[in-house]
Amino acid sequence: MSETNIFDKAEILKWLREEDPQALSELYAEADGRRRQTVGDAVHLRGLIEISNYCVRECGYCGLRASHRDLKRYRLSREEILGCATEAVTLGYGTVVMQAGEDYGIRTEWLAKIVRRIKQETPLAVTLSMGERPVEDLRTWREAGADRYLLRFETSDPALYALIHPPRGAAPSDRIAILKTLKQLGYEAGSGVMIGIPGQTFESLAADIEMFRRLNLDMIGVGPYISHPATPLGSGLWRRNVDASAQVPNTEEMVYKVVALTRLVCPNANIPSTTALATINLRNGRELGLERGANVVMPNLTPVVYRSLYEIYPSKACIFETASTCYSCLNQRIASIGRSVGSGPGGRVQ
Ligand code: 5AD
Ligand code: FES
Repeated sequence: MSETNIFDKAEILKWLREEDPQALSELYAEADGRRRQTVGDAVHLRGLIEISNYCVRECGYCGLRASHRDLKRYRLSREEILGCATEAVTLGYGTVVMQAGEDYGIRTEWLAKIVRRIKQETPLAVTLSMGERPVEDLRTWREAGADRYLLRFETSDPALYALIHPPRGAAPSDRIAILKTLKQLGYEAGSGVMIGIPGQTFESLAADIEMFRRLNLDMIGVGPYISHPATPLGSGLWRRNVDASAQVPNTEEMVYKVVALTRLVCPNANIPSTTALATINLRNGRELGLERGANVVMPNLTPVVYRSLYEIYPSKACIFETASTCYSCLNQRIASIGRSVGSGPGGRVQ
């Protein structure tokens, strides 16, 4: 496989359609080698705190969508969040990721104060994932000390995006524009897509990977689309029919292909082996992701009483595990593949 070829869309497309196990194992070995050269053997742990499951949006795939009335909603208190951050320090994590639905009950200044406290009192890097908040909010949080922001663009295919992701109010939802703003504000910017969304074609997935490169992303997370029956996409109510041969399957193998190609196209990025991947292969999905291009995992720090309520998709991995069980489990998994746990914030390598 020549290095220049991998950068071209036709080559990406060919790999996405590849089914020969021998060829795929070469792709995975190449990605693993590139990962070792660029970001090394350390696996960085990012402690995930799911601070609220309220959401004003109506994404067609997501269990947190506003009109999912049966879901009990919660928002963590400041003390609960700071408790999780303390636990992150105790467990030796370098980063906390605070994630929520797009929840304007999370007041801008309230979160800014929490970010300031964490930055003043701990050595942690702070990542936020709060949805499509206005630029003033993003600026306030950056000024408070937030280091990174995650916002997946989900698909680069405009028609599919429009179907699954209704805008809020009159303004169009433009996540690519927000990602550019985040970079201008000095955040490390992370994004990603779901793999195997109904109506997603191989062509559009190849374009997604090209988009990762074009945006020069610092972090790229990809995982399988997992159908949620309480959503219009999961129930088949919203549907975009594409040829069966063009439809990307939401299989484990497709996720590995995309992780490996992403590493080859964006060699320096931080790439997590995601919880969604672990969910479709509880036995060793995480490890295989780490052996095929990924270098980050995100152990859950959310207090166990709230875990099952952050139900983006059903049967999420680790919902009954405490922070320290998740930590030991991941440590053991990382050691089992001959890798080490990273220390420090683990920001993007240049
Ligand atoms: N299956 C898989 N991933 C999902 N996400 C949301 N809903 C689903 C689903 N049904 C992902 C989206 C979002 C991230 C927080 O979770 O990519 O950006
Ligand atoms: Fe959470 Fe294994 S990673 S229990």
